[in-house]
Amino acid sequence: MKQLLSYILPITKTIESKHSGTLEITWHNGKKHLNSQNANYSYGSLQRILKYGLEKINLSKVNTTLILGMGGGSVIETLRQDFNYNKPITAVEIDPVIIDIADTEFGISENENLKIHCIDALEFVQNSTQTFDLIIVDLYIDLSVPSQFISEAFWDNIIKLKSSKGDVIFNASVKDAKNQALKPLIEYLKTKTYKVEVFEKVNNTNTLIILKHL
Ligand SMILES: C[S@@+](CC[C@H](N)C(=O)[O-])C[C@H]1O[C@@H](n2cnc3c(N)ncnc32)[C@H](O)[C@@H]1O
Repeated sequence: MKQLLSYILPITKTIESKHSGTLEITWHNGKKHLNSQNANYSYGSLQRILKYGLEKINLSKVNTTLILGMGGGSVIETLRQDFNYNKPITAVEIDPVIIDIADTEFGISENENLKIHCIDALEFVQNSTQTFDLIIVDLYIDLSVPSQFISEAFWDNIIKLKSSKGDVIFNASVKDAKNQALKPLIEYLKTKTYKVEVFEKVNNTNTLIILKHL
């Protein structure tokens, strides 16, 4: 019934989060979304943006995936349902409220192929010793990527966690102005022997950066 009504009126429920402020779970056009005050976090345009990135990756060679910024888990749904990717996924999410929403609202919870760490991604990349064939960096607080995630120190750790055949998808910014801050990082990453591909205005909004192994 909720799903049907949502074609007429968006139905919204709000939940407070210490990290992201007021979160909204909204039924819209028959699909449930997770939004922050100004941004779609999961299952709307965000899901389409990451799907665009995944289409550029040869997933048949990916045996392990790390997602930094699990949100409601829409990229996990995309990997499992649209790409039939059934290999292990490790997801990192700082916000226990969002981990709970992923479970109760979207059916995303730990299982033998999904390990969820409730921890700051900055700390996770400093301490993890496992390497991954695909790393998805999707770390936002509302509309912004926190500045520590465009620092060279963070990206040195991402490179350390990437296997020799590994690729990285970075959902890097929502606003064009922010791209100025990305330029030095892109130049830095180019010195790290990667193929660096920059896709602007994906879904009319976001900049995606894809690092491909050589
Ligand atoms: C755009 S949402 C992620 C959407 C998700 N990738 C998906 O496919 O549905 C951004 C997420 O980054 C998380 N986040 C922000 N800062 C973080 C941090 N320091 N460590 C871990 N997660 C963080 C937020 O809590 C939020 O859930």
